[in-house]
Amino acid sequence: MQRRDLLQWAGVAAGLGWAGALQAGTVDGLGGVAARSGRDFGFSIAPGYANDEPVVSLLARHAGVITAENAMKWSAIEGFLGGRNFAPADAVAAKAARLGAKLRGHTLAWHQMVPARLAVATSADFVKAQTAHLRELATRYAGRIHTWDVLNEVVNPDDKRSDGLRESVLSRLWGGERYPELFELARAADPQAKLAYNEYGLEQDEPWCEQRRRATLRMLEQWLQRKTPIDVLGFQAHLDLSRKFSPEKLLRYFDEVSYLGLTVQITELDVRDAQFVGDIEACDAAVAALYQEFVQACMSHPAVEMLVMWNVTDADTWVNRARQGQRRADGAPMRPTLFDIEGKPKPAFAATLQSLAKASTPFAKHAQRG
Ligand code: XIL
Repeated sequence: MQRRDLLQWAGVAAGLGWAGALQAGTVDGLGGVAARSGRDFGFSIAPGYANDEPVVSLLARHAGVITAENAMKWSAIEGFLGGRNFAPADAVAAKAARLGAKLRGHTLAWHQMVPARLAVATSADFVKAQTAHLRELATRYAGRIHTWDVLNEVVNPDDKRSDGLRESVLSRLWGGERYPELFELARAADPQAKLAYNEYGLEQDEPWCEQRRRATLRMLEQWLQRKTPIDVLGFQAHLDLSRKFSPEKLLRYFDEVSYLGLTVQITELDVRDAQFVGDIEACDAAVAALYQEFVQACMSHPAVEMLVMWNVTDADTWVNRARQGQRRADGAPMRPTLFDIEGKPKPAFAATLQSLAKASTPFAKHAQRG
């Protein structure tokens, strides 16, 4: 079956090119192929580009799950002038429903998207505001969310706290020892949604990633001892070509996470090429090779239930936006997604599709590797 698909893909792609094959709709998209091993595949989107081509067609073809890139974040809902604007978030939710895709909620609490007015709040006022915000947001979409990222990016060993937590407006005003309460509030507001903790820098084979893996696991163990209602560890997976990758180390960590009873979701996958020196073909090949290794590793672990790309094409990727810092020395834009700026599939697309199709182990909710 899977081999047949690969042959079919190869044949169709040779005749029509990937773009033609996708347009012709003669083969399953990424979401359909992932579903065969019991997994979901999808993308984060913003209303600004999700209603234009080529994204409209790519989502129709490939999206089994949708995340709002920014629309469900606190300071996106609450503008500078106060008030609450759910229109963009509602639009993303409606889009997911129209596509027949699952919806990931992102994110109920995150230090980067706390409204500016609260930076100077008292702790009591902050707790009141965060609680009200979380309740309203989770209740609004209750029953429609597959998984909520309850809390985002609170681990940071670089800050040298004994608990490994990040110094931020959240640790200061909500309190790091009270993070489990966010999960309790989320569970009460939307009992059907799976609840995730979402983190970056857990994927690659670098000492700072290992530190983040240890600190995250320690925190999760403590939360679970306190009976925190949490189901999922979200791996953002903003990968970088300049960092080492070890499938074995990642899989061992997936083991540790699944021993805790949690499943794994890849929540924001992309591959940065800021340091790569070479022409576009060489760069695309290197990016594809990392996608291939990473997705293949994920597809070999029974705890991995979902893969979500961050943005859809190289035209809408966040890594090239003005405020994101890292740049290529030659000034060229980075090419971190599966589709080029015209929406044409790149080698990374084929690598991902083939790795999804070859999934060696299906997702199994409570399974561990033998
Ligand atoms: C990013 C968005 O893509 C940007 O548009 C925004 O300016 C900042 O946030 N980790 C996360 C995501 O959890 O919410 C971030 O998204 C990327 C890093």
